[in-house]
Amino acid sequence: MAHTRFHLGYFTKFGPPAWRADSDRTFGGDWWDGRYFVDLAKRLESRYFDFLFLEDSLNVSRTYKNSMDGDLRHAIYSPKHDPLQLLPFLAASTERLGLIGTASTTFYPPYLLARLFSTLDSLSGGRAGWNMVTSSETDAALNFGMEGMPPPVERYDRADEFVELAKALWGSWEAGAVVRDEAASMYTDPSKVKPINYVGKYHRSRGPLNTAPSPQGYPVLGQAGASDRGRDFAAKHADLVFALTGNGIEEMKALREDMHARARRFGRDPRELKIFWAAFVNITDEPAPTKRGFTDAQFEAILAWWSTFFDLDLSKFDLDQPVPDDASALGHTSMMTQLKQWGRDGMTLREGLTVLALGSDELGLVGNVKQVASNIVAAMDEVGGDGLMLLSNDVGNEQFISSVVDQLVPELQELGVVRTSYSGTTLRENLRNL
Ligand SMILES: Cc1cc2nc3c(=O)[nH]c(=O)nc-3n(C[C@H](O)[C@H](O)[C@H](O)COP(=O)(O)O)c2cc1C
Repeated sequence: MAHTRFHLGYFTKFGPPAWRADSDRTFGGDWWDGRYFVDLAKRLESRYFDFLFLEDSLNVSRTYKNSMDGDLRHAIYSPKHDPLQLLPFLAASTERLGLIGTASTTFYPPYLLARLFSTLDSLSGGRAGWNMVTSSETDAALNFGMEGMPPPVERYDRADEFVELAKALWGSWEAGAVVRDEAASMYTDPSKVKPINYVGKYHRSRGPLNTAPSPQGYPVLGQAGASDRGRDFAAKHADLVFALTGNGIEEMKALREDMHARARRFGRDPRELKIFWAAFVNITDEPAPTKRGFTDAQFEAILAWWSTFFDLDLSKFDLDQPVPDDASALGHTSMMTQLKQWGRDGMTLREGLTVLALGSDELGLVGNVKQVASNIVAAMDEVGGDGLMLLSNDVGNEQFISSVVDQLVPELQELGVVRTSYSGTTLRENLRNL
């Protein structure tokens, strides 16, 4: 039986690579001039990754212990530069790699965002993708003059309108609107550019957009929320869903089927919605991988990180007890639900956070390259697709990058399950054809 073929993405952030490892300090130069990421993007493209993904957030966090210390000391949320500024830089140094940037529907004005991504799509020759996040940090809301984040469901209601509006703006220039007809003294045919007059509960815009239509028309749309409301939002709008591998194959299958059912309910062909599994892989020849050991400093970084993720100060809980059932997360609600479920099954908060931070290894993604590759192939055969988004606990660690680019992907290519050439010129084309 032929194996299920699948796509590959790579998750990172425009922030410090694994700075604790000496060997990583000089790779590609300092990270903030962007050259580190140019090197990375070229390496990914040389192995035909569908895309590089840049996450983002907009705050120096003080959720953990009501202090910025944890964030700044461990370089968790900050420093972090703007991903949308980096992507054109990467576009200029690559030719086929998809370039996905994160931008928040809670903080961007829709018109500005639509314009930025239209421009990126043109600059990159149709390789732009937008990770549509609603954001989850009170600290970020305060930076934008808000008193706090809207409640989780309202964030998605606002996001729904935001994306409807943005799509209307991207569609406000008909194909062929730019005619450049010197004889008629007409650069753009005015009859083909229309206002959108969008009036919603949260957003309004007259339109039209003032950018020239971009190669893809609009960026590839991705989203990562897994709550009920988040899934509906994705099923309605997204081309890509970024999902966690959670408790293994059965949950992955259930999520994929659920997303397909939701897409159908919104009148879409489920094949248009690709599920990318965020997979923490660790290629190692050690017979008994030691991945579960953390130093105190590393565990403090994990606590500070997850406090911000949940928008909830985890320092007030006993780490050696299950998370209290009344703990209330304002962000990443689906992961808090998971943590509480594990708590009811007897897992302590420390154990639960360790699994969340590393990703559970239900799929067998820790081991030598042959083992990991064959476990991935088996998992994708069971689940049915559609892609893996590779990441490590140490974002940007050189040892990790070379282990996937030089070992894992060639092995998967050898097995015939991932591409060995790009099938299209735009990101959307590549996602539609393996
Ligand atoms: C793989 C992955 C990547 C994510 N990237 C970001 C990001 O860059 N910025 C952000 O604010 N949230 C990010 N999130 C969070 C989601 O967008 C979403 O807010 C979160 O999962 C909570 O939504 P839910 O309550 O619907 O699950 C990411 C989540 C996952 C699983």
